[in-house]
Amino acid sequence: MQEQIQRIRPDQGEVLRGLRLSGLNEAPDAFGRRYAEIAARPLQYWDDHVRRYATSAESATFVLYRTGKPVGMAGAYLEGGRRDHAYICNMWVEPTFRRGGAGARLVNTANRWLAEQGVERINAWVVETNDTALRFYETLGFMRTEQKRQMPSNPDIQEILLVFDTALL
Ligand SMILES: CC(C)(COP(=O)(O)OP(=O)(O)OC[C@H]1O[C@@H](n2cnc3c(N)ncnc32)[C@H](O)[C@@H]1OP(=O)(O)O)[C@@H](O)C(=O)NCCC(=O)NCCS
Repeated sequence: MQEQIQRIRPDQGEVLRGLRLSGLNEAPDAFGRRYAEIAARPLQYWDDHVRRYATSAESATFVLYRTGKPVGMAGAYLEGGRRDHAYICNMWVEPTFRRGGAGARLVNTANRWLAEQGVERINAWVVETNDTALRFYETLGFMRTEQKRQMPSNPDIQEILLVFDTALL
């Protein structure tokens, strides 16, 4: 089956909306937002954001396609535009296509893009009970830190910070 990973295009607001809602619907406890909150955002919100994610040097979204259909995504951004505050976020692959290396290829694409922006250390917040994501990131070379925080959308859930050294790329 043909696979492609491409940076999102400026006209793909609906694609991003669809992927984010699919991820939140399928894995509600994996992300820092609630489905209803994201679903309530108007299409203009997605159009505005996608233009940035398609062209900015501070944030990007990468879309995974299987035979032309969007089936996964990864986000990457520099918080406040700072190279020393780089994050991978909103990582999701449709269940049918998991365990085939697609998630790894998405993260590697996002990692390489961040490294091209001059980033040396990439951060990822992962829910501490999300064993799959923790193992996934560790397999890709991310290391667990001692740093934890309460999930922004649900203070009862803790997240662990993992970090990746771009010298490994
Ligand atoms: C995490 C996620 C993106 C992984 O996507 P994927 O396409 O299955 O990942 P890959 O096939 O590239 O897996 C790479 C490696 O990660 C590890 N891994 C992935 N899924 C795993 C699982 N369920 N159990 C144990 N290890 C796992 C394995 O080492 C795997 O390599 P292998 O299949 O050769 O053993 C996917 O499971 C997902 O979308 N989960 C729901 C959303 C989520 O939790 N996102 C993370 C938010 S922080």
